[in-house]
Amino acid sequence: MLPIEEVKSTLEDAGQSHILQFWTELSEGDKSSFLVELSQLDLHELREHCERAAESAANVQSASAADQQIEPVPSEFIGSIRKSDQTTLTCWENEGYLQISQNRVAMLLLAGGQGTRLGVPYPKGMYDVGLPSHKTLYQIQAERIRKVQELANAKHGSKCTVTWYIMTSEFTLDPTKNFFQENNYFGLDRSDVVMFEQRMIPAVTFDGKVILQDKGKIAMAPDGNGGLYRALVDNKVLEDMEKRGVEYLHVYCVDNILVKMADPIFIGFCVSKGADCGAKVVEKAYPAEPVGVVCRVAGVYQVVEYSELPLDLVEQRGPEGELVYSAGNICNHFFTRAFLNEVAQKYQGQLKQHVALKKVPFVDQDGNMVKPTKPNGIKMEKFVFDVFQFSRKFVAFEVLREDEFSPLKNADGAPLDTPTTARRSLLAQHYRWALAAGANFLDAQGKPLPSRPRVTQDEDPPVVCEISPLVSFFGEGLDQLLRQKALTTPLLLDEKRAKELLQAQ
Ligand code: UTP
Repeated sequence: MLPIEEVKSTLEDAGQSHILQFWTELSEGDKSSFLVELSQLDLHELREHCERAAESAANVQSASAADQQIEPVPSEFIGSIRKSDQTTLTCWENEGYLQISQNRVAMLLLAGGQGTRLGVPYPKGMYDVGLPSHKTLYQIQAERIRKVQELANAKHGSKCTVTWYIMTSEFTLDPTKNFFQENNYFGLDRSDVVMFEQRMIPAVTFDGKVILQDKGKIAMAPDGNGGLYRALVDNKVLEDMEKRGVEYLHVYCVDNILVKMADPIFIGFCVSKGADCGAKVVEKAYPAEPVGVVCRVAGVYQVVEYSELPLDLVEQRGPEGELVYSAGNICNHFFTRAFLNEVAQKYQGQLKQHVALKKVPFVDQDGNMVKPTKPNGIKMEKFVFDVFQFSRKFVAFEVLREDEFSPLKNADGAPLDTPTTARRSLLAQHYRWALAAGANFLDAQGKPLPSRPRVTQDEDPPVVCEISPLVSFFGEGLDQLLRQKALTTPLLLDEKRAKELLQAQ
């Protein structure tokens, strides 16, 4: 802990002396915890951070990729579920399972976000979207890991581990840790779940002043999901990966309820292509869909925000009417450990800082707590995908949105990406799997229900059918359980029910 006089003079030098405005009013206990917080800040970087934040916020509107040379990802570097034949897909899948069976694949979850749009006071991974099982996102993901390990073992006679690295922040570490402990790590070995923390940085006003959240507390925010690269170094995570023999990382966001954990097809595709960096994408739903597009800008790969793409490119179509810039980023990436090492050692300091204008509660000059109704603060964030530019062999892999992407971003009531749409996407997928396996569904009165596999997120599927990841990872193995079975909705196909159905053959 630094002496207060030293902190005071450094803050003055940085033009931030207001931080100690209420110092004399604080209790001894609050003084010492505030001093601990201030001592942990990189006080010498503070001036630069504040100036850069204010400058970036002033220029936020002018940032654009319009004047640069933009090209779509060349077709030879894009794989696609839709456009590949079954033999090719099986080949990639086999490669993926082989790597998994040899403990060379790990998952890396980005779970340090504050989830402000969803607005719950706990980490998003602990959210229950209202499935019949009431499983949380964390539990669904854990069970998918268990199942993919089991499938790899069955194929290769191995006893493999897919280590689960979880990046948290000051907001999410303790609750996430406690939740995993209370739930016995959802059946995973606790030594194979590695949690680590990303750094926090101060939120700043538009004129470059650090925001006080309380008289003795700075408003801090995690440094964005691109804070990953610094956190890997801070917490010696790359060394842990090396010790375990992990070579390939599948990195993803906590909020996609359909995430295909350690996806063997995606991993197999990237490994077969010799890629060091890969991005799963979905076809954009319509030209103006507000999603980042993976493309090449001035020769390097990048995700270009929808708002930064020139309008003529947003709408440009190819010979068959398809959108040319259609590779929608879903924050689902492949990295080799060697690539992560290189980025962490050489490039992480060069990552672009993105500006987010947010409503940050603060104490005003008179010491009153204020909850702003419009954005008053700047949070600087790095993005996980900003390392694509450093890749030597980049590939993209297009997957089907209805099977792999349904993020939980907003609270119910919003038009998109809510608990309701996430629940519907998962139930619709499981209903499709059950129909494909030959199931027949009956309503609660025992009347047959017509099959209607195509449902949108705007409606509930006609049948409530939830299949535990412990029964099926991605639709496989259901024929023997469901073929020609008359099943009453709602159906919760967990391991117990699966056993009963097998015995009833
Ligand atoms: P989002 O950009 O959706 O942010 O994060 P968020 O925090 O979940 O939600 P809002 O914007 O406050 O409503 C995408 C992914 O990146 C992670 C999130 O946990 C989520 O998995 N993330 C985000 C981090 O790990 N660290 C961060 O600093 C920010």
